Amino acid sequence: MATLLERGRSHDCGSLRGEHIGDDVVLFGWVNFRRDHGGRIFIDLRDREGLTQIVFGPDIDGSAHEAAQALRSEFCIGVRGKVISRGDNVNEKMPTGAIEVEVSELEIFSESQTPPFNVADDERLETNENLRLKYRYLDLRRPSLQRNFILRSKLGTLTRAHMSGEGFLELETPYMVKYTPGGARNFLVPSRLAPGSFYALAESPQIFKQLFMVSGFDKYFQITRCFRDEDLRNDRQPEFTQIDVEMSFATPERVAEPIERLMQRAWKELLGVELPATFPRMTWEEAMNRYGSDKPDTRFGMEIIDAKAATAGCGFAVFEKAEYVKCLCVPADKAGTLGRNQLDKLTAFAKKRESGGAKGLAWANIQEDLTWKAPFAKFIDEAKQKEMSQALGAEAGSLLLFIADDFETTHTVLCSLRLKLRDDLGMLGDAPENQWRFLWVTDFPLFEKNEKGQWTSSHHPFTMPRAEHIEHLVSDPGRVRALAYDLVLNGNEVGGGSIRIHRRDIQAKVFEGLGLSDEEAQQKFGFLLEAFTYGPPPHGGIALGVDRLAMLMSGATSLRDVIAFPKTQKGQDLMTNCPNPADEAQLAELYLRHRPLPGDEGDAPKPE
Ligand code: AMO
Ligand code: AMP
Repeated sequence: MATLLERGRSHDCGSLRGEHIGDDVVLFGWVNFRRDHGGRIFIDLRDREGLTQIVFGPDIDGSAHEAAQALRSEFCIGVRGKVISRGDNVNEKMPTGAIEVEVSELEIFSESQTPPFNVADDERLETNENLRLKYRYLDLRRPSLQRNFILRSKLGTLTRAHMSGEGFLELETPYMVKYTPGGARNFLVPSRLAPGSFYALAESPQIFKQLFMVSGFDKYFQITRCFRDEDLRNDRQPEFTQIDVEMSFATPERVAEPIERLMQRAWKELLGVELPATFPRMTWEEAMNRYGSDKPDTRFGMEIIDAKAATAGCGFAVFEKAEYVKCLCVPADKAGTLGRNQLDKLTAFAKKRESGGAKGLAWANIQEDLTWKAPFAKFIDEAKQKEMSQALGAEAGSLLLFIADDFETTHTVLCSLRLKLRDDLGMLGDAPENQWRFLWVTDFPLFEKNEKGQWTSSHHPFTMPRAEHIEHLVSDPGRVRALAYDLVLNGNEVGGGSIRIHRRDIQAKVFEGLGLSDEEAQQKFGFLLEAFTYGPPPHGGIALGVDRLAMLMSGATSLRDVIAFPKTQKGQDLMTNCPNPADEAQLAELYLRHRPLPGDEGDAPKPE
């Protein structure tokens, strides 16, 4: 007689319903949970599609029941049996809850040790994350993680179908590339065949996709891995995936359209959500002024208010001396919950470096007559207090939170406060139209100052400036805005791109603005500049962060819940224990030698 494995399964564990009652079925899966009741053994059998209750009993099949005594959590088994009704015992919580399977044949494919954490106990994903990552293959068995990866897989399939439907060719670019300075820090790969020389792992296909345009491929996309040696956070991994896109004869609008259609289709087919036909646009300048961020969360109001004019002449030195005075007005129905203790905590939060490092937080409770109850109220006369309340839109019971500082600190701190209050005070309503807020942020500054005060490219040096700003490239670089745009979703940057420079004269001026000599430019980007002497088309593109999209779509709060084998905050893979030292023989083959690590100069060989 054929084994169950040979027969193959008839259904997955999520598909049996009332209509299957009476059928003879074969199921394969893992023992999720086992209960013994009055001589019968009940097991929830699990596979990636769901759970089905199976029953063993001496009255159903004596030898199957006998064999089932040995079953424990996470054994991998196959069963054959008959689908029966659960009668009055329907389990409404399970899609298969109307039925159970009476087992007449059991095959144990493999046994399992007691797992280090309970796989079935899906609600408790908070199990020590390091333990989860060490036993990632078990962690990934959990239904909630499986759902994330099933969604992510569908997103990939849908993206390929959509982009090829829009006329984009899927083309590959190398991962091992020439190191080009400027962007993110690269990982280096030593070359055995050219000892002493290195490849870099591509931080993105940027230069290659532009070369595809020079080659006349017209429209390109790729779902590709990118590598960046960055400091990690919950929304950053050292290797991550982009939907990378480039098109010839592009304008910002022409790039946005297929991306909006892709997002609409993904949300509709994967989440059943109808997104608006076009996404709103906001300039970087406006985003900074209203939200203090280039990736504003527009799901709720409480925007930043410019209080410079309203506070002028108030007499409070902190306000009078600062370049910027801006505030948030917490509405009365939310502000009521913030007592003195919470306000002290909020002040401490505002002062933290991660929040932007405020010098202080000037808070004012607005009273019935619109005068202020505030630590600094004594410096301001009551008439002026009332006038300011009105000018700033504050009502009785509102709370005003002021930051007075330079542009950067004022906006960064108010943005941090706004997002903290969003979470602490539950500012997000549950209106469905507020659930998903896409936004294009446009017209980013072309240049930004680095720590040394030198102008550098905000994105990369091939980003096209706005035509009307070209004349300021050298004389006033800070004023130049770029044809660069980010796609923002619920306060997360999910994509970024730009129109590229294809004209030599503009490129030369950008290099000049960056203080880059012709010689340096040739040395760094010579091959690209040369390619651009052979009739490059106007072009532009974008890259979307697949991991971030998958994280937001699945409701996860960490990229690690949508990357199958992620790295920890410290860049480590706890399952395989990597990175790990290379042995001497490997190093010798590459002509590499250890240098002493900080702190162990004594032990390691001296550097050359
Ligand atoms: P950018 O650097 O903005 O643009 O990257 C595009 C998108 O990729 C995602 N992303 C990340 N996701 C996870 N972990 C990371 N470390 C990480 N870094 C970036 C973000 C981001 O919006 N070549 C350009 C695109 C272009 O100009 O066409 C680029 O890579 O969602
Ligand atoms: P001080 O004059 O330092 O005693 O501050 C008076 C009040 O103003 C306190 O509540 C401080 O927290 C607040 N404060 C001080 N500096 C700033 C600032 N740069 N922005 C906003 N509030 C501030």
